[in-house]
Amino acid sequence: MALPMTVFAVEGLVNNPFEYGATVSGAAFCNRAEESGYLLRIVDNSLRTFVYSERMMGKTSLVLRVLESLDREKYVAAYIDLWASDDEASFITATAKGISLAMSSDVSRVLELAKKFFARLAPTISLDDEGRPKLGFEYNPTAEQARKGLEEVLAVPQRIAKETGKKVVIVFDEMQRILEYGDDHVERLLRSIIQMQKNVAYIFLGSQKHLLQEMFLNRKRPLYSAANHFPVGPIDVAHWLPFIRAKFETTGKKIDDPVIRRICELTQGHPFYTQYLCHTVWERLAPGKKVTPGDVASGLQVLLDREAKAYSTLWETLTVNQRRFLRGLAFEERELSPYSIGFVTKYGLGSPSATQRISGSLLKRDVIDRDGRFFIISDRVFRLWIRKRKD
Ligand SMILES: Nc1ncnc2c1ncn2[C@@H]1O[C@H](COP(=O)(O)OP(=O)(O)OP(=O)(O)O)[C@@H](O)[C@H]1O
Ligand SMILES: [Mg+2]
Repeated sequence: MALPMTVFAVEGLVNNPFEYGATVSGAAFCNRAEESGYLLRIVDNSLRTFVYSERMMGKTSLVLRVLESLDREKYVAAYIDLWASDDEASFITATAKGISLAMSSDVSRVLELAKKFFARLAPTISLDDEGRPKLGFEYNPTAEQARKGLEEVLAVPQRIAKETGKKVVIVFDEMQRILEYGDDHVERLLRSIIQMQKNVAYIFLGSQKHLLQEMFLNRKRPLYSAANHFPVGPIDVAHWLPFIRAKFETTGKKIDDPVIRRICELTQGHPFYTQYLCHTVWERLAPGKKVTPGDVASGLQVLLDREAKAYSTLWETLTVNQRRFLRGLAFEERELSPYSIGFVTKYGLGSPSATQRISGSLLKRDVIDRDGRFFIISDRVFRLWIRKRKD
């Protein structure tokens, strides 16, 4: 809820308007109009899509915002977080929970619906540590029972669509978890079931690294061709400009466009790092003041100092060639392919095949990620730390 303007005028009571760490919604959410439009088309046409990105690029925030915008009279939207799931049984209960919660906001009604659709899973309502009602399942199946349970649970979205006459959308977040279930049974069943369902859309969210490397590049994986692929990238500076400017202005501070551009250049428009740097710059700026380029530099220095020890430790573990390669990525942006002779020569890497080995090992360690045909240093503050180093 927005605070009345008079409160903003009282020093000390103004909250930092830049949020990072958790999903963002409402006024803390910037743009994504094009991506939202795409997802709404998926929902409306009951299609299937994989949404993937580098870490913390804003997938979950984006999809939750799209789900929130849907008219409850016409849609049933279930969000299922698979992060904590590690096998078929936990996939089943996470799915049943997400679907039950999507159908009503009333606790007793949720239990009633859970009992109707997921009777075999023995749904219960208990109180959490803070006394809020929580839906759970007393379900400890054998492998054989889990198979049966899985089929039943995955058939429910279609039943709901039929019974309610509404369109259903099912979102599975942290989809890469299913790669760790031991076998590909969930994936195979998902594939065969979702292809038959009508009026049900499926949106799978996952880390770029895992989905790209293990699901998409391996055409034998069951879900490979069952859905469209939709990469989510950084937010364009054109959208950050009004967003960041307004955040400063409505909290009694100022910032000019060239300074915002500078921030976005440093963070490469990555949503998490942009919010993180803006948060720090805002926090250090006195009320009523305007951000100078020096304020951005000193804000960045705070972030660099915070991680200095971790970055030095990481750097120490890298080989000379890995360091050279990273320096190349940190300075070259996307102009020069890391596999080109130009790059290899400029950064003393020996040969393009050596570059392939180096990028493979850095990908494995999550230091870099793929960026189309290029690579990118995942931690944008680490990238800036490398740029400042002399050796
Ligand atoms: N549209 C947006 N506008 C402003 N900030 C955003 C937006 N999307 C994401 N962010 C910033 O990025 C952070 C990460 O967002 P989110 O958790 O949605 O990303 P994610 O891709 O789901 O991350 P993960 O890889 O951890 O699943 C948020 O805490 C917020 O600071
Ligand atoms: Mg997420």
